[in-house]
Amino acid sequence: MPNITFTSPEHRDKTVYAPAGSHKETILKVAKEHHVPIEFSCEDGECGTCLIKVTVIDQHKKKHAGHLTPKERTVLKELKKVSQDDLDRMDVDDLAPDYRLACQCIVRDEDILVEYGTGDLS
Ligand code: FES
Repeated sequence: MPNITFTSPEHRDKTVYAPAGSHKETILKVAKEHHVPIEFSCEDGECGTCLIKVTVIDQHKKKHAGHLTPKERTVLKELKKVSQDDLDRMDVDDLAPDYRLACQCIVRDEDILVEYGTGDLS
């Protein structure tokens, strides 16, 4: 099970151990359970409020895997966090982009760093 470290310029870092069975839990759900104040609104992959940046900190993996939901693809493209080329490449190599929507991104077996709350993640 993975450790998830939440980091933000406005809040202290918090590392949580994702619970067993978390493969169906979103990063937003884990954050809420641990009182990590990731902003959100729709919780349905439509508004983009919960934008996060995800970095794998597992030494043996460079990029996190995991499919983007159709809504996530649309919103990330609208926010210019992924291009069509990025999306096409992801369909081939199955590696997710750095930017995700916390309400759509499912926790996997990877230790990750989740940056949130800057308003302009870059
Ligand atoms: S809360 Fe709206 S996209 Fe995640």
